[in-house]
Amino acid sequence: MTKQKTAKQSEVVMTEMVLPNDTNTLNNLMGGKLMHWMDIVAAIAAQKHSNRIVVTASADSISFKHPIALGNVVTLKAQVTRSFNSSMEVFIEVWAEDIPANKKTQTHRAFFTFVAVDQNGRPIEVPELVPETEQEKELYEGALRRRQLRLILGKRMDPKDAVELRAIFEPDFGKEGNRE
Ligand SMILES: CC(C)(COP(=O)(O)OP(=O)(O)OC[C@H]1O[C@@H](n2cnc3c(N)ncnc32)[C@H](O)[C@@H]1OP(=O)(O)O)[C@@H](O)C(=O)NCCC(=O)NCCS
Repeated sequence: MTKQKTAKQSEVVMTEMVLPNDTNTLNNLMGGKLMHWMDIVAAIAAQKHSNRIVVTASADSISFKHPIALGNVVTLKAQVTRSFNSSMEVFIEVWAEDIPANKKTQTHRAFFTFVAVDQNGRPIEVPELVPETEQEKELYEGALRRRQLRLILGKRMDPKDAVELRAIFEPDFGKEGNRE
């Protein structure tokens, strides 16, 4: 297995057009359809990083602030931000484009987590991710806090163990003599 891969190596860009079958009764893209596309583009990014079968472990909160209209072209970009043991956090950005009006708007950003598994569905180790650009480094740094938050919410981590997360709210936490 390759021990390290850059974030860029996992980049995936997917383009779709909103067709009548994808819309609700207001002629806007259905949320579930968008989440389906997000899941696919992010899974491909995680596969590119790990060269393994991957399963969706979690999707962080997605809010639908901007409706995407029938006929719009939707671009989804996904890239792995950081890998841990078997899991990978993927950052997804979505843009909606009204090509005749020459208008493109970023509509969504989200983080999904995928786990690489073997043929029996058991988690398996993935390569380390190396961030290169400033944005990649920023996303890499934040990934540890986001991981702790989602593992606490999923009741997989005791909040007491979330060192990086606690440090945001308790600046002295973790310093010599201040650890519980
Ligand atoms: C995801 C899955 C493989 C984890 O298996 P598990 O037996 O719980 O394995 P572990 O407890 O060893 O966790 C493995 C990794 O998953 C991560 N993980 C598990 N649940 C998670 C969650 N809700 N959010 C984020 N990461 C999660 C763990 O943090 C761990 O990461 P690490 O190896 O990088 O440290 C397993 O729960 C599964 O197969 N889920 C169903 C996946 C699926 O069908 N997805 C489609 C959605 S319908």
